[in-house]
Amino acid sequence: MSSERYLTFALGKGRLADKMLGLLEQTGITCEEMKDKSSRKLIFVNEELKLKFFLAKGPDVPTYVEYGAADIGVVGKDTILEENRRVYEVLNLGFGKCRMCVCGPISAKDLLLHHERIRVATKYPLIAKDYFYNKKHQTVDIIKLNGSVELGPIVGLSDVIVDIVETGSTLKENGLEVLEEICPLSARMIVNQVSMQMETERIKSLIARMKCLITANEK
Ligand code: PRP
Repeated sequence: MSSERYLTFALGKGRLADKMLGLLEQTGITCEEMKDKSSRKLIFVNEELKLKFFLAKGPDVPTYVEYGAADIGVVGKDTILEENRRVYEVLNLGFGKCRMCVCGPISAKDLLLHHERIRVATKYPLIAKDYFYNKKHQTVDIIKLNGSVELGPIVGLSDVIVDIVETGSTLKENGLEVLEEICPLSARMIVNQVSMQMETERIKSLIARMKCLITANEK
């Protein structure tokens, strides 16, 4: 059943949004306005399909979805875990694959092995805390950084870092290694809990179409 209500998508700015727009396009959902990179416009509308799209900072996507400002969000699993918002995670989109890892100089391996009270620099304090306290039962001091986290062990701020590893080249170029793997990551689709009840058919059919496409693309 079609509805007159707009379905609003919040997309995490950057690579994830570009990939998601590509995937939507394959399902016949396009938003021409959004392709204009020089535009400063923040919200885009597809009148025919009654869809709206906006680009937001990744960590804000779950917030927009929890409060219902967006019905659907596309964001990395890292952000979902770190933001811990009340949203439904409905689909693994399969792109943006990487890993959340504990990294550092090889010399830090012993500190991890012996459960020493170490310093951990990270952009993801919640994920780091959950890993060390709840899974490893190791007391650590967590230091929040906002980027270029690899600097932590290099300049002596921390013993290790908890960060995303994709190709591993940032670590390699800075003399660091993956010491422990926390979890695999990729882009996910999240849905507002009320929207899921109110717009079940539209959202479920969208999920089904995306699933088919993801499977077909994997072959
Ligand atoms: C991410 C991550 C690593 C890097 C990993 O940083 O924090 O630094 O990418 O990628 P690689 O394994 O392919 O080298 P991002 O570029 O998002 O910037 P940031 O360091 O400012 O967070």
